[in-house]
Amino acid sequence: MRKPLVAGNWKMHGSRAENANLVQTLLDLLKPEWSAEVMVCPPFVYLWETGRMLKDTDVALGAQSICAEAVGAFTGEVSGAMLRDVGCGYVLVGHSERRQLYGETDALVARKFVAAQAQGLLPVLCVGETLEEREAGRTTEVVARQLEAVLAVSGVGALAKAVIAYEPVWAIGTGRTASPEQAQDVHAMIRAKVAALDATIAASVRILYGGSVKASNARELFAMADIDGGLVGGASLKAEEFAQICAAAG
Ligand code: PGA
Repeated sequence: MRKPLVAGNWKMHGSRAENANLVQTLLDLLKPEWSAEVMVCPPFVYLWETGRMLKDTDVALGAQSICAEAVGAFTGEVSGAMLRDVGCGYVLVGHSERRQLYGETDALVARKFVAAQAQGLLPVLCVGETLEEREAGRTTEVVARQLEAVLAVSGVGALAKAVIAYEPVWAIGTGRTASPEQAQDVHAMIRAKVAALDATIAASVRILYGGSVKASNARELFAMADIDGGLVGGASLKAEEFAQICAAAG
């Protein structure tokens, strides 16, 4: 059985005080009997403080990005060792905002995936098509290409220590969620691609859905056979709503 994972991507939001309040309220709301694993991804500068609040809790800490290089003259970048050092267990790689706004290519995303695993971090590999690509009937091709770029470098075995997140770009921050069936179709396709290489890993790898997940739609999304939780942006900034989404994952 795959343990569901609900991850909050705070993006570039919050302040020290707001984050502390968000984390504390969330910790108060989460119930030990809920089965989903919960993870939050604050901005880099808040990782350490958030991590200290999460110490000795079951809530995991993740970063929103990572440098593909291990150490050196890379102004403005943050390495996997640094993320590990401040308590991260996870890191997002290939989020569509990184791909679209900061020019991250499939090849760079694959290197970031490797850099994360080299430090024992679990990469959350984000894949997803734009609206234009979906309307052109290219969803499978685009998602498969993004996945294969990582598999070509890391091999399918690396997915035993990773998470995949399907995030259709047209659903991120737009309020327009993929229907459970639309999401399930892509999740099943991703799992089938992995299964063609390794059936055991395909059965165990968690595939999260992201893109306007809310308390009101989480349950029906998470009920789909190949949806193993969510990567939640906007709704993760509201502790009550995020907790409801965690509850919906089981
Ligand atoms: P959203 O963001 O939930 O605000 O659509 C999801 C994400 O970008 O991870």
